[in-house]
Amino acid sequence: MAVLYDGTKKLFNLNTKNTTYQMKVDSYGYLLHLYYGSHINDSTEYMLTYFDRGGFSGNPYVAGNNRRYSLDVLPQEFPVQGTGDYRSVALVIREENGCYDCDLHYKEHKITNGKYCLKGLPSAYSEEKAQTLEIILTDSRTNLEVTLLYGVIEDCDIITRSVKVKNNSREKIYIEKISSVCLDFLYGNYDAVTFYGRHAMERNMKRAPILHGKQSIGSKRGTSSHQYNPFVILTDESTTETTGECYGASFVYSGNFLAEFERDQFEQIRFLMGLSDELFSYQLDIGEQFYAPEVLLSYTAMGLNKLSQNFHYCISEHICRGKYKNKVRPVLINSWEACYFDFNGEVLCQLADQAAELGIEMLVLDDGWFGKRNDDNSSLGDWYVNEKKLGMSLTELSEKIHNKGLLFGIWIEPEMVSENSDLYCSHPEWALRIPGKRPIRGRNQLVLDFSNPEVVQYMFESISSVLHQGEINYVKWDMNRSISDVYSNSTSYQGNVLYDYMLGVYSLLERLINAFPDILWEGCSGGGGRFDTGMLYYTPQIWCSDNTDAIDRVRIQYGTSFCYPLSVTGSHVSAVPNHQTGRVTDIDTRGCVAMTGAFGYELNLVALAEDEKTKIKEQIKNYHKLAPLIQKGIYYRLSNPFKEELGAWMVVSRQREKALVSVVLLNVHGNMPVVYIKLQGLDSTKYYRNTQDGKIYLGTALMKHGFPVQTKFGGYPSFQILFEAV
Ligand code: GLA
Repeated sequence: MAVLYDGTKKLFNLNTKNTTYQMKVDSYGYLLHLYYGSHINDSTEYMLTYFDRGGFSGNPYVAGNNRRYSLDVLPQEFPVQGTGDYRSVALVIREENGCYDCDLHYKEHKITNGKYCLKGLPSAYSEEKAQTLEIILTDSRTNLEVTLLYGVIEDCDIITRSVKVKNNSREKIYIEKISSVCLDFLYGNYDAVTFYGRHAMERNMKRAPILHGKQSIGSKRGTSSHQYNPFVILTDESTTETTGECYGASFVYSGNFLAEFERDQFEQIRFLMGLSDELFSYQLDIGEQFYAPEVLLSYTAMGLNKLSQNFHYCISEHICRGKYKNKVRPVLINSWEACYFDFNGEVLCQLADQAAELGIEMLVLDDGWFGKRNDDNSSLGDWYVNEKKLGMSLTELSEKIHNKGLLFGIWIEPEMVSENSDLYCSHPEWALRIPGKRPIRGRNQLVLDFSNPEVVQYMFESISSVLHQGEINYVKWDMNRSISDVYSNSTSYQGNVLYDYMLGVYSLLERLINAFPDILWEGCSGGGGRFDTGMLYYTPQIWCSDNTDAIDRVRIQYGTSFCYPLSVTGSHVSAVPNHQTGRVTDIDTRGCVAMTGAFGYELNLVALAEDEKTKIKEQIKNYHKLAPLIQKGIYYRLSNPFKEELGAWMVVSRQREKALVSVVLLNVHGNMPVVYIKLQGLDSTKYYRNTQDGKIYLGTALMKHGFPVQTKFGGYPSFQILFEAV
């Protein structure tokens, strides 16, 4: 059983394959956190200590004259504002009269088989090998009811957390802050690992000690953002890729978030993750309920690589859905870097002809096919086909592409509106805009009010009608600006808007993927500005970055790999000099980097030299051979490309019969020293053949002593070596 309750001790034990999560209801009815780590079978309540901390750490009234009892010191499951805990708390409730208070006590709990799901929000799913624990807490003064939800997914060592707040009081309340998870640690020196970045350079890894005070990362851009990814790790200061304790937390949400790390006066650590409290004040009417988005938690004592593998497995098996979940994705050619806005039907057909000849399987028509759009200043919102520009209808184009043996996909950006559009002329009130203020523009576009169900309904009809024109096999859903001017004409209270906006986006996604179940959906927000587990519930892959430079991509994909599996990471070979950096890299290196992801091309195939065409044909054949291994294998990082002059990673099949090792030299020098790499994840007793030169090595030797990478001449050489067990 994954969830165990000991009624005598009032002790909850949540068990996965390798971990235990423990909490208890204490004698005053408070829910205290006891432990999260490797398996243990007994209560760790003995770890709690009680000292008189003086008048500056409050004592709840239920504790009588016991001055040794303070929630300012004790580890809690769900700390709230109002109990004398002065650390950052998970829940702040404001009442109509401006009073901030809440005091939650255990009422009851329920254990059920299968994992809960959240209405209107993405969440991990698992019928088998999972259980749900719901703990109901209430505030006796206001009648507020808070349900803590725990999903225990045993096979990948994942525990999920979410919170439901129900307003049973006699007046409106306002949720001013809500975190979905709190983890309190009694002691320890921990590092916070976070992933910062910017447009075209996302998810750079940063590791820093958690010091006294509060450290946080988050987003208030309306998307999870390029700037900080909603995935963080807490590690013991000594943890490495292959050894040591670490905790990961992934927020299953694509909007604003906040992750906080705090070292307190008694050297204890608190970690919180949930919705951002900025631009948020959720008004909850009498009888209404609110769901905080889910957080996926995982723990391992086997280092960062194992932690990533837990998340990879969970995301592939319990988050991604749909027809393509377990399918190798078609190799695509995207029109964006091939021709930007400058195309017509004829140009696209030529691109498709060339693509078919090379073995590419799908043509994606990116931005510019709708309204009057020939640059990025107009037409968003006008989702009708520009037949004049194409020289044909979408149905005709799609037929032509299919007749060449290719699948066909299109790009959309449903959440946006250009001021220069028919939609904006007829419905200016549908844009998020502060009345009386000239709007903040981003890429010359405004954001539609997805908190308004009328807008969502309109978009459903509008996008559906396009998707019915011809056989559309793929859709890239983009979102190309940060949100500002948060004001909806459809509500009188603005504090709910950004959360309701996300619900609107999710509801449109859900309706469209259900209405068009055969379509492969890819998420995008200026590349990886909304690369999160929430989006992956709807789109089983996301365009990783607008930066297609192979060398930058080694670093971007390295950071991405800490949480996200290769199968979800959209990655393309583009032209040189690269359009973002001007760098020239070899076609083999571009292929090696792009191939360890959802693979494709994004360049003008018609302009390729003959030798490049030959190389691309080989690459695609090679990819078909390797794709099942890349999509389903176990991933290992073999270097840190932010610290070493080398990017190296490998994927091992689950039976450990095959291993694909990829290496990119990020710098070359005269008279280069030899680069040695230690492999991982092999069967130590098996012999492996290097399929390139036929040489045979013992698994244990490759892992313990390593493997020399031959030096190659030229900038940024790469190596892709497939080992097969003999
Ligand atoms: C964003 C995407 C690109 C491309 C353009 C089109 O920047 O990330 O891949 O689709 O929009 O405008």
